[in-house]
Amino acid sequence: MKKVKVGLLGSGFIAALHMNAFRRVYGIEVEVKTVISLDDHLAEFARQNGIAQTGRDWRALLGDPEIDVVDICTPTVLHPEMVVACMQAGKHVICEKPFTGYFGRPGDPTPIGTQVPKKLMYERAMAEMDAASAAIRASGRLFCYGEDWVYTPAVAKTAEIVRASGDKILFMKAEESHSGSHAAHASHWSSAGGGALMRLGIHPIGAVLWLKQVEARARKETITVTDVTCDVGRIFPTLTPAERTYFGAKPADVEDWAMLSLTYSDGTKATIFGGDVVLGGTRNLMETYTTGGALFANIEPNSHVVTYLTDESRLRNVYIAEKVDRKTGWQFVCIDEDTTRGYTGEIQDFMECITVGRQPLAGIDLACEAVKIAYAGYWAAEEGRRISL
Ligand SMILES: NC(=O)c1ccc[n+]([C@@H]2O[C@H](COP(=O)([O-])OP(=O)(O)OC[C@H]3O[C@@H](n4cnc5c(N)ncnc54)[C@H](O)[C@@H]3O)[C@@H](O)[C@H]2O)c1
Repeated sequence: MKKVKVGLLGSGFIAALHMNAFRRVYGIEVEVKTVISLDDHLAEFARQNGIAQTGRDWRALLGDPEIDVVDICTPTVLHPEMVVACMQAGKHVICEKPFTGYFGRPGDPTPIGTQVPKKLMYERAMAEMDAASAAIRASGRLFCYGEDWVYTPAVAKTAEIVRASGDKILFMKAEESHSGSHAAHASHWSSAGGGALMRLGIHPIGAVLWLKQVEARARKETITVTDVTCDVGRIFPTLTPAERTYFGAKPADVEDWAMLSLTYSDGTKATIFGGDVVLGGTRNLMETYTTGGALFANIEPNSHVVTYLTDESRLRNVYIAEKVDRKTGWQFVCIDEDTTRGYTGEIQDFMECITVGRQPLAGIDLACEAVKIAYAGYWAAEEGRRISL
């Protein structure tokens, strides 16, 4: 079987997690040949991860015939152009979430997050996304969408039970929240395409869309999303510097709190929460209520290992979980976070798909539908009404 050669775009937070997952791929030989980024620590990143080549210009990957797949781990504003250019150059692509969004056009009032009407954003984002996805589909290459939630063992088990039981999902409640991103690009609509809803809520949105399709296939039904309602807020700017002590969020023109509710064509529901104003570590949770039971996917926190420890200084080299601000007191320790959070399974699936030519669990349809739902949510929130799709 041919070795898969990867070009990595970005050497930041998610690129490091992807590298952990590439190292653990089994049954297929994978080499991350090149990493391109603008970071000062690029050479160190390459050395630590055994990557032979580094560079600053991502377009250099396009002309390298050895690269089979480009893994895009850059700020969201760069995704659509990078994805389309790479796929038109004959590369398969892994694209981090969210796939795309609205990032402003010349002449827009600024900052766009507070100044451009969300209805206009929705219309423009959908038009741009349709053009990008048409180019992606025409390329004949694989588009792998980095929605790690569908690869988490917890959501995979939920899907297995939904599939086996044939039960109807009545409603789902799902949340991704934490205390705010480290990344400067997360603060601005022009680089992130939105706030907590797009950066965090996009994961549970992806999961509830995907799981409902698992049900639809099991029951041989066609189910779509018909309506979206939403509320968003900016809580962080109301806080004093002292009250912000334990948070990493620095929202400029983006929301830090979001709640979205969607209705499926069979009349069932899903509610999504995404927030940057939550202490106590990352909350990645999905509850699924069906005609046959209730399923709680506790991705993180979970109760595999619960600790109560007292001396912070002795725990310096012990990893507890993402975004906890201390290691003492009661803690929900996340075992093998790379796998629990879905990254290991995601990269394994993508490498298998590239090798045998099948479609990934998370592909272009899910990537586009998730952005559409989030932007319908922004429109609904701004106008205080239900948006029918
Ligand atoms: N799936 C997840 O759980 C998850 C978690 C965090 C972030 N993300 C997504 O990953 C993406 C990156 O986020 P991050 O937190 O890793 O950000 P980051 O700031 O830590 O890393 C971004 C990287 O992109 C590089 N970069 C920026 N402009 C570039 C350019 N023109 N050419 C080449 N490299 C360039 C930077 O140098 C940096 O290495 C975002 O789309 C974000 O939504 C996903």
